[in-house]
Amino acid sequence: MRLLLSESEIKKRVKELADTISKDYEDKSPIFIGILNGCYVFMADLLRELSINTEVDFVKIRSYEDDSSTGTIKFRKDISADIDDRHIIIVEDIIDSGFTINFLVNRLKEAGPKSVSVAAILYKKTVAKLDFEIDYVGFEIPPEFVVGYGLDYNERYRHLKDVMVMEPEDID
Ligand code: IMP
Ligand code: MG
Repeated sequence: MRLLLSESEIKKRVKELADTISKDYEDKSPIFIGILNGCYVFMADLLRELSINTEVDFVKIRSYEDDSSTGTIKFRKDISADIDDRHIIIVEDIIDSGFTINFLVNRLKEAGPKSVSVAAILYKKTVAKLDFEIDYVGFEIPPEFVVGYGLDYNERYRHLKDVMVMEPEDID
């Protein structure tokens, strides 16, 4: 595996994102909705750098098997929070095709929140097909398969502190 983003680079960038979000959402008490499982490392780091009041909730959806998108969404856990009239920030590990985030943004909007924005630590912008901007992006990365910092290959490697690119010979 090849190093793409080091622990220290990620830490610095997460702090910058948190500072921006703290400014943008001062006095708005947003609800952060993390997409499990991949969000858990980024979400924990991001929220601990914020200087505003927040609430936290999670959804669990899945579109990936092995190293590619299946093109269908499986909902495994829905939100428990009441998001009516609230500001929502969706927290995602990576946006690849954009399929997952597009689905969730539309679905949450149906519940009548005041606003919905998206924070993703990684964004494969050249492959994503989205008709809206991602509000808070950690890093735009090339269209390669990456692991670490919460991201997995069949549930492995989520614990790695750096983001690593998996080379074709690493994929079994
Ligand atoms: P999308 O629906 O194609 O945007 O894919 C989003 C989901 O696929 C993410 O939440 C990840 O769980 C997974 N995913 C996409 N690209 C990668 C990758 O490079 N490594 C690990 N998981 C990925
Ligand atoms: Mg994910």
